Amino acid sequence: MNKAKHIAIIMDGNGRWAKQRGKKRVRGHEVGVKVAKEVVTYCANNENVERLTLYAFSTENWKRPRLEVDFLMKLLEKYLKEELQVCLENNVKFEAIGDISIFSKSLQEAILRVEEETAKCDGLVQSLALNYGAQDEILRAVNSLKKDAGNITFEMLNNALDSKQNVDLLIRTGGDKRLSNFLLWQSAYAELFFTDTLWPDFTCKELEKIIQKFKKVERRFGGLK
Ligand code: IPE
Ligand code: IPE
Ligand code: MG
Repeated sequence: MNKAKHIAIIMDGNGRWAKQRGKKRVRGHEVGVKVAKEVVTYCANNENVERLTLYAFSTENWKRPRLEVDFLMKLLEKYLKEELQVCLENNVKFEAIGDISIFSKSLQEAILRVEEETAKCDGLVQSLALNYGAQDEILRAVNSLKKDAGNITFEMLNNALDSKQNVDLLIRTGGDKRLSNFLLWQSAYAELFFTDTLWPDFTCKELEKIIQKFKKVERRFGGLK
């Protein structure tokens, strides 16, 4: 049976969830944060899951109205403060992927603080994708390797990426069937699961069901079974 060692989730549908209830889009993001925390705790207590990568803010999300972007930045800072406790209680190591150099000083410091304070935790790795785009990640990796002489090997490029572990199970909520620039290299052989559930309605029970289905998939990696 397959093991979902690395689960990656595109947490989509917050805005629509709020609109359906006659609320502002940002209310959906607030509820979405609660769901993210539940999913982290669930994965921390699932012995097969080594890494959980959550897509929180893409390199393209800057195109949104200023008010929504500002709200998301504040929410992220609040999440990081609260998440430190959750990580320490559950032996979770936190790491950010993406180019965080664009964020405000205080947000960057908040990210580094959680990374530093959870560095010794050796349970689940919670990887949070912030100002992350897979194309940007690959470009940054290639540029960092330019000075090396000779051909770039698979290992060299893989190790130069922000996220170095291949994805086993990739889930997108919110009904759309696209990757939106998420972990393109790492998902080369990921099993893809799409659900219509909007992220604020997503539950650990649904995650458990998806994992059960994933376990039984025949993964061939181009070979034969
Ligand atoms: C995902 O929900 C969260 C972020 C991209 C920050 P959306 O905000 O994309 O919600 P929908 O897709 O518009 O409903
Ligand atoms: C993907 O959702 C990004 C995150 C969940 C952070 P989007 O809502 O930004 O993706 P598109 O625009 O529908 O492709
Ligand atoms: Mg969306």
